[in-house]
Amino acid sequence: MSHPEYTIEQLISAKSIAARIEELAIEIQEQFFGTEKLIVVGLLRGSFVFIADLVRELDLPVEVDFLEASSYGDEIVSSKEVRILKDLRGEIFGRDVLVVEDIVDTGFTLSHVVNLLSSRKPNKIKTIALLDKPTRREVNIKATWTGFEIPDEFVVGYGIDFAQRNRNLPYIGCVKFTPTP
Ligand code: IMP
Ligand code: MG
Repeated sequence: MSHPEYTIEQLISAKSIAARIEELAIEIQEQFFGTEKLIVVGLLRGSFVFIADLVRELDLPVEVDFLEASSYGDEIVSSKEVRILKDLRGEIFGRDVLVVEDIVDTGFTLSHVVNLLSSRKPNKIKTIALLDKPTRREVNIKATWTGFEIPDEFVVGYGIDFAQRNRNLPYIGCVKFTPTP
């Protein structure tokens, strides 16, 4: 499948992301102070860079697990049907859980994942999203912590892709489509 040409404009610098993660880590540590073990659940694939930076700022006993929910495929419109493509490896019953998401857009993915994990009766479940597009919300859900609220723009970088590309950008950028001649 071919894609129209596009350019990327920086929206959030790598430095701003790092500074925000330091702030968020302090709040997360307060929330989970005294935990025996915090299970940090990254939603694949978009959160892999964020979770890597976040856990290194957490001075808590941490275990990392991953879950993959179906996403956009190669399209830029969201599908309301959320499927679990890869489940957790570990048990979360009675545990403290932090779900790490890249972007909350319509909210379908995060709400589905939180409902699923809550049914396994963790002790406490909290959520963090690097980015939030509140104007796009269709399900009433908000992450416990949000890195940055952004406008309704399609973004890439820092783990986030457009048709699997641009995950390796160190910053968050907006995709700007250039008209085809
Ligand atoms: P939701 O279920 O509509 O909230 O969508 C959440 C998922 O859609 C996120 O985990 C992202 O993977 C993806 N997504 C939402 N907005 C963007 C974007 O601007 N760029 C790339 N992926 C996005
Ligand atoms: Mg994605």
